[in-house]
Amino acid sequence: MGISIHRYDAVIVGAGLAGLAAARELESRGKHVCILTKLHPLRSHSGAAQGGINAALRDEDSVESHIFDTIKGSDYLANQEAVELMCTRAPETIRWAEKMGAAFSRNEEGKIAQRPFGGQSFPRACYAKDRTGLTLLQTLFEQAHRDGVEFWSEWYVADIIYEEIDGIRKVSGVVAYNIRSMQKAIFYAKATMFATGGYARCYAINSNAHANTGDGLSIVARHGIPLKDMEFVQFHPTGLAGTGILISEAARGEGGKLINSEGERFMQKYAPTKLELGPRDLVSRSITREIEASRGVGQNKDAVYLDLTHLGEEKIMTKLPELRDLALTFLGLDMIKEPILISPTAHYSMGGIPTDVAGRVRYDKENIVNNFYAAGECACVSVHGANRLGANSLLEALFYGRYVGETIIKDLEDGNLLTHADHKISDADRMVAEIDWLLSSCGSERVADIRKDLQDSMTKNAGVFRVEEKLLKQREIIKELRERFKYVGLDDRSKVYNTDLQEALELGHMLDYAAFIVEGAIYRKESRGSHFRDDYPNRDDKNFLTHTYGYMDEEGNIDIDYKPVKIGKYKPQERTY
Ligand code: FUM
Repeated sequence: MGISIHRYDAVIVGAGLAGLAAARELESRGKHVCILTKLHPLRSHSGAAQGGINAALRDEDSVESHIFDTIKGSDYLANQEAVELMCTRAPETIRWAEKMGAAFSRNEEGKIAQRPFGGQSFPRACYAKDRTGLTLLQTLFEQAHRDGVEFWSEWYVADIIYEEIDGIRKVSGVVAYNIRSMQKAIFYAKATMFATGGYARCYAINSNAHANTGDGLSIVARHGIPLKDMEFVQFHPTGLAGTGILISEAARGEGGKLINSEGERFMQKYAPTKLELGPRDLVSRSITREIEASRGVGQNKDAVYLDLTHLGEEKIMTKLPELRDLALTFLGLDMIKEPILISPTAHYSMGGIPTDVAGRVRYDKENIVNNFYAAGECACVSVHGANRLGANSLLEALFYGRYVGETIIKDLEDGNLLTHADHKISDADRMVAEIDWLLSSCGSERVADIRKDLQDSMTKNAGVFRVEEKLLKQREIIKELRERFKYVGLDDRSKVYNTDLQEALELGHMLDYAAFIVEGAIYRKESRGSHFRDDYPNRDDKNFLTHTYGYMDEEGNIDIDYKPVKIGKYKPQERTY
């Protein structure tokens, strides 16, 4: 089977909300665009977001307050210009989604209903019961399909076509193979956009889809493009005990209480004003502290109770039906009648591929990667800084996806893009070599074993609380795991739906980006947002009001550089809740 060649104005990798929103924008302006996804689009992880999408819609709320809450929530690391842009355009983004057919839940007045979420001054999370992401994903997918966006589903993108000549960097498309048939293809594009999702899958307990293996990030990093702020991994306070499956913040927004083994509503100690609706970093640390202090519950005493029984059956069945189902299915507990067991779960990636406010991949004024864009969880502009507020991720994906689509249109129409040389089949060499190596390797190591060791050790050594000694240990563990990966062998050598091969490629990516998390965490000798160092428990604005940039060399070593955060009108203050 030869390598097929395809050409587009724009190629988008990832069919979650960011990818779909950008594709619709481009298609509506007559651009020839396609989406490549390793899944069926409706299995994209945006569909797992449950609780809501933020916008200041009510008279008593304001865009200003949304901006401030987001910047405070970010522990002052966020790019304030990007936050202002996103929050200002949030109400319009909700109306755009509604016009397309997204069925939001309504309040008694028939207006879009909004619920409280952590770290926010007003109830501003618009929702569709507890299936908000799924509702939005289905709506956008239908619209994109109707508009004629071309989908290449179950195609695994393994590389970008990248070159750097005399300091000018450029991406000319992507290289992929079909998971069903192993057909290989090169997709040339005037503009390439990554919307490949997040990277919390390298932790043992996480809320992420199996697909969230951070492919996009590692593909980029292997070409020497830096990754930004990778140490900031969000732990959602309420994952189902044992599995980490998301139990939405909506549960606390609707009135859920966190209780320890002594029957104490312990958030009174940690966030006296906001209680369970403190920001996620703070609530996750509080739960972990309770468990560490032997006040945990459950068989292994490694969980706490989330009590919703006082809400009553009607409220639970109307507003949180999916959550009830999940707890029933996976724990056998009925939240209508009894408290359920939860503990923090790795949930979201604040770091990622560095972009400017318009979504162009860029890591400072001079260093731009021409014709290359990123949006959504794989990108780091950064609107979330060191800690994201709940319900700002769907907003980022939808708003920024669409906005980056607008940027690409502008660049295409203004002639801002570099032109490409003729295609070369050798552009696929790297992917072909990697696949050939894996399919022919007789190594004795197995993907599942290395992945488990990575996930377990990341949870143990680079989790909610971090300390130098454990981080240094994790650096060595990742080195060893990368060594073992060189001897990985597959049990399945077939060419049809070879998930063994796909998981090996994904594991290679996980090992690479996990090293960035650890190096960033070693470098950052302070505590800020989701990154908490027990040995440096305070925020240190003097030395670390900075973004980290990790650069990987050909041997896989990572060098950390940093740049100061540009502070706008919101000056850093103490963060209390
Ligand atoms: O808790 C949740 O429903 C998750 C939402 C989010 O991560 O924004």
